[in-house]
Amino acid sequence: MKDAAPQTFYLSDYTPPAFLIDEVSLTFRLAPEATRVISRIHFVPNPDTTDRSFFLHGEQLKLISAKIDGHDANPTLTAQGLTAEVPDHEFTWEAEVEISPATNTALEGLYMSNGMYCTQCEAEGFRKITYYPDRPDVMAPFHVRIEGDLPVLLSNGNPVDQGEGWAEWSDPWPKPAYLFALVAGDLRATSGTFTTRSGNEVALNLWVRPGDEGKTEFGLQALKDSMKWDEDVYGREYDLDLFNIVAVDDFNMGAMENKGLNIFNSSAVLASPETSTDANFERIEGIIAHEYFHNWTGNRITCRDWFQLCLKEGLTVFRDQQFTSDMRSEPVKRISDVLMLRARQFREDAGPLAHNVRPESYQEINNFYTATVYEKGAEVIGMLFRLVGETDYYRALDMYFQRHDGQACTIEDWIAVFEDATGRDLTQFKRWYTQAGTPHLTVTEEWVNGKYNLHFKQETKPTPGQPDKQPLVIPIAVGLLAHDGSEIVPTTLLEMTEAAQTFSFDGLTERPIPSILREFSAPVVLHRDTNNQERAFLLAHDTDPFNKWEAGRALAKDVLVRMITKGTKPDTGFLDALRQMALDDTQDPAFRALAMALPSQDDIAQTLFASGVTPDPMAIYGAVKTLSRAIAEHMKDDLPALLAANTVTEPYQPNAEQSGKRALANTALSLLSKLDNGAAAQAQYDAADNMTQQLSALSCLIRAGAGADALAKFEQQWHGDRLVMDKWFGLQVMLAEPEDAARVAQTLTERDDFDMKNPNRFRAVFGALAGNPAGFHHPSGDGYRTMADWLIKLDTVNPQTTARMCSAFDTWKRYDADRQAMIRDQLERIAAKPDLSRDVTEMVERIMA
Ligand code: ARG
Ligand code: ZN
Repeated sequence: MKDAAPQTFYLSDYTPPAFLIDEVSLTFRLAPEATRVISRIHFVPNPDTTDRSFFLHGEQLKLISAKIDGHDANPTLTAQGLTAEVPDHEFTWEAEVEISPATNTALEGLYMSNGMYCTQCEAEGFRKITYYPDRPDVMAPFHVRIEGDLPVLLSNGNPVDQGEGWAEWSDPWPKPAYLFALVAGDLRATSGTFTTRSGNEVALNLWVRPGDEGKTEFGLQALKDSMKWDEDVYGREYDLDLFNIVAVDDFNMGAMENKGLNIFNSSAVLASPETSTDANFERIEGIIAHEYFHNWTGNRITCRDWFQLCLKEGLTVFRDQQFTSDMRSEPVKRISDVLMLRARQFREDAGPLAHNVRPESYQEINNFYTATVYEKGAEVIGMLFRLVGETDYYRALDMYFQRHDGQACTIEDWIAVFEDATGRDLTQFKRWYTQAGTPHLTVTEEWVNGKYNLHFKQETKPTPGQPDKQPLVIPIAVGLLAHDGSEIVPTTLLEMTEAAQTFSFDGLTERPIPSILREFSAPVVLHRDTNNQERAFLLAHDTDPFNKWEAGRALAKDVLVRMITKGTKPDTGFLDALRQMALDDTQDPAFRALAMALPSQDDIAQTLFASGVTPDPMAIYGAVKTLSRAIAEHMKDDLPALLAANTVTEPYQPNAEQSGKRALANTALSLLSKLDNGAAAQAQYDAADNMTQQLSALSCLIRAGAGADALAKFEQQWHGDRLVMDKWFGLQVMLAEPEDAARVAQTLTERDDFDMKNPNRFRAVFGALAGNPAGFHHPSGDGYRTMADWLIKLDTVNPQTTARMCSAFDTWKRYDADRQAMIRDQLERIAAKPDLSRDVTEMVERIMA
């Protein structure tokens, strides 16, 4: 059946379900192209509504039979589902459908990956498995029987019974259909146990394909650490006897929190020192924690509807961020999170895809698993945490779990808990959920008769569909420093609520130097008329590590912007300050590595555009290259010692301490490579016994124009490892010269091991093309054309991943008329593709609007 014209769904249209479900039994008879799904569902009228209309979602299903209380149901079918006459009292629905997992390349619903069956049901994939009220506010206990000639048959909950070719599972916790999961295949488990603090022993398994058993140890440990942390910090215990994690090679996202059966993109769980970088390890630890934490924030308490997605995602991201800062370094984690927030969320908020943390309409909900819902959603919770304080925050969370366990909730429920727990009125605060765009905060200072005034103004620019913005509650953490570097006012939280507001400090003996927005206390863009002397002072003296880093970053940006717009030379004051920071042994190496990294090219483009300058990606690329070289020359005599001092000689451990040293050593190596034609990098490449060092040496060699040999060796060594080869694919595109990038990407797609059905491999190539701004935006237009060619091809195969990658074009209005015209042509070409998916249709429409 052909799709009807795309429908738009509105938050304001919510109505409660007519029927609830108190029991579901599913039987799966697995066969690659003709799996039978037999469902038996007990419906009861919802006492909270008088609506008795009966609708079940269902897409791409072949209906074999349908009965209501044993009688033929005679349903009316549409492309979206079915309706039928039902009694106005409880009844049993029984249906049988046929589906084809083997040909399901969209990777949504039940599909196959390397001979293994698996599912992805969030957000609306369950309707591709059977007819069901596929909405999160319908929660039910599931009983599942799997029949199939495969050694391992898994579903949610606890195992009930099993025999040759079948297994039965029962999940006692009522859950929405999006948390359903099934996995069947030839899998190997690495097992462990965790004893909860109330003494329940939980069996843990991490399932992988044969051959991947050597990459499971770290993930299993991360799971145990997460379980312990959620008990210690939030008092949340696990609630089943079994917790399974499965690694799948073909997966659209990072991972999925299905109850008791988390399914992971193999790139988000498999790790070993030889094949994974320090960054991979940290990401994996964070994602395992994230999915585990969903057991309470997402599963036990879920979302009423998909507009409330941030209820579970923002909170769970906030929780995984807390976990990582506890496991590793708090300041380093905060800086990395802010870098990511600015790169992805500020970019989104400043362009055509800007939307509320809680959106009010969508055509395809999968398009709203965004940096705004996730990362800004987490920032909003961080602000609540700062405003109410730690004690009240945890008191509110206790109340949330107690009040709403087993329910499908809204942001209103969440806010009400905080109001009730703390006595605060959060009406104005709630605007963070209902108003899109990044606020710009401007501060000016005044020093009169020993009184120091900070005048703040806030402004949020219009976003699509939201021309008028209202003032937000902005927590501004401020500290004041004396000129000798001592702190005269320690960190104080100012609560801004007005469009313009002044805060005064009395009793000071000298005019202080302010450190504003410490810890990045709110997701805003701060403007302050300052100079580089003061930035260098803060870089040297600020006691707040975030602002210390931020001062260095502002310096670097200022230098780059002047190089680009005024043609100035790299500033020696900056070079001195950077050198001092790099060599300051009192600072954590990880922090120093972050402080030495220059702003990304996209960040510079965004900064230029925001200040009214049309960014030229080639000029940005050139300036970054020139400045890096100037830093290398300025530190020429220091680099070998810096590299040596931070070279880890102990056996590889993916912990914060070692990875911080490796990060700093690699910063030194990459600078050195600009001076020695890659000699030191070649030596490191040849000696490397871990992927962090091997890959960073390879990057240095490619950048130095001396990578051919190492790339060939790398391929020879790793051609059998898909995850490592993804790095090999990506690096070549990411580091290609601007004029070569599109051709390099295209050439890689012609290899036998390029498979566009595998999202990791597709992203390795085309995510890297989008991540090479000078290559993607090359004046030839080749970057745009190649990207569009492949998005058009992929749309037929996998709409969800195609739609996500359309965001490569979302900054198009920043650029000059030629580039805008070229991008518009490509967007129109995508829009004109026959049978373009609903996912991509919505994205292209929004980007072009
Ligand atoms: N809930 C998952 C997570 O954040 C994300 C799954 C989203 N999947 C999707 N197809 N939209 O961990
Ligand atoms: Zn999540």
